[in-house]
Amino acid sequence: MLDVEKIKSDFPILNIRVNGKRIVYLDNTATSQKPIQVINAIKEFYEKYNANVHRGMYRLSIKSTELYENSRKKIVKFINARSSREIVFVRNTSEAINLIAYSWGLNSLKKDDVILVTEMEHHSNLLPWQMLNKLRNTELRYIKIDKKSMELDLSNLDKFNKSNVRLVSIAHVSNVLGTINPVRDICRWAHDLGAICHADMAQSAPHMPVNVRDLDVDFASFSGHKMLGPTGIGVLYGKEEIFESMPPFMRGGEMISHVTKYRAEWNELPWKFEAGTPNYVGAYAYGVAIDYLNNVGMNSIRKHEEKLSAYALDKLNSLNDIRVFGPLDIRKRGGVFSFVMKDMHAHDIATLLDKDNIYVRSGVHCAEPLAKVLHVPATARASVYLYNNEEDIDSLANSLKKIKRLFLS
Ligand code: ALA
Repeated sequence: MLDVEKIKSDFPILNIRVNGKRIVYLDNTATSQKPIQVINAIKEFYEKYNANVHRGMYRLSIKSTELYENSRKKIVKFINARSSREIVFVRNTSEAINLIAYSWGLNSLKKDDVILVTEMEHHSNLLPWQMLNKLRNTELRYIKIDKKSMELDLSNLDKFNKSNVRLVSIAHVSNVLGTINPVRDICRWAHDLGAICHADMAQSAPHMPVNVRDLDVDFASFSGHKMLGPTGIGVLYGKEEIFESMPPFMRGGEMISHVTKYRAEWNELPWKFEAGTPNYVGAYAYGVAIDYLNNVGMNSIRKHEEKLSAYALDKLNSLNDIRVFGPLDIRKRGGVFSFVMKDMHAHDIATLLDKDNIYVRSGVHCAEPLAKVLHVPATARASVYLYNNEEDIDSLANSLKKIKRLFLS
């Protein structure tokens, strides 16, 4: 069991008071809060180690480079990659997926090749493929959702067997439904078709152990800011042989080994994909965030969120007039609860919750096609993390009860 009170005490922002009352932060799907260890790491870096990486023969630059590359090694271990050559630092998940599209996609895909996604994708895992449709005349197709279970309907995957599926790109965990998708099975199926497989792990890597070798994904993407790290740092994992076959995404400093007036040769992996001065301070602090998560334990975090999800679903479902989306089986979902309350608009719900210092997101959550599938204009969304507890869920439920009483009766 997690010592949530102790964990909470590490997060300065969770201890601030607004109008004399504590805040209840339930927008972890959008971004996580940061422990003091991560905040201090940023300050410490600028105070003690700051110099550009991979560019200096002097002590400070060597130290800075060492700290940057150490963080990369922490990521290798965290997701069980094979080596640092498979870990590219990017700004965030969106940039990671754009890297795949611009580098692998533009160079490997041709007319009528199929890119297969699901109906529960974040825009980050749709728009880069829509671009390829335009530029390469590829075809974007969708695995549907079973609207009852809110899981993927995999019953007729075979219908894609005859089309030229070259890339399967799916969310590991939906940022709206919380559904955990069977990435390993889908990737196995994709590989049998000769396709490559990408998992958007923005909502899984922060909340559960992820093992890219076990899942056998070819690419995986995730963001530091959703897992206690700073903003502006994220990861694209790629199998080495695929990364080797890809041209750079962006060109400039750092990513070259040799340049003449008219030609250039690329640097080794992973630096071939890291043009310009990277966010080395962010990467260092991200490494400290990874240490924090490892100390608490990813298995323990997952168990804690499962327990909290069961509690939250029970509470929310017991409030009549509320419809929560997503699987009922706790083992098949993460701690994300999107809901509607009769015909109240989600933005009104979120604004009223804010009056009680309860912070949730409302809208379509960067997944507008999914809202259409669910036939809702928008949802309110609460999402938990390691520092949330039952008291936070009680505050949410009590506030919703009050809103119901005032506006719906
Ligand atoms: N992707 C983030 C969310 O779902 C921003 O809220």
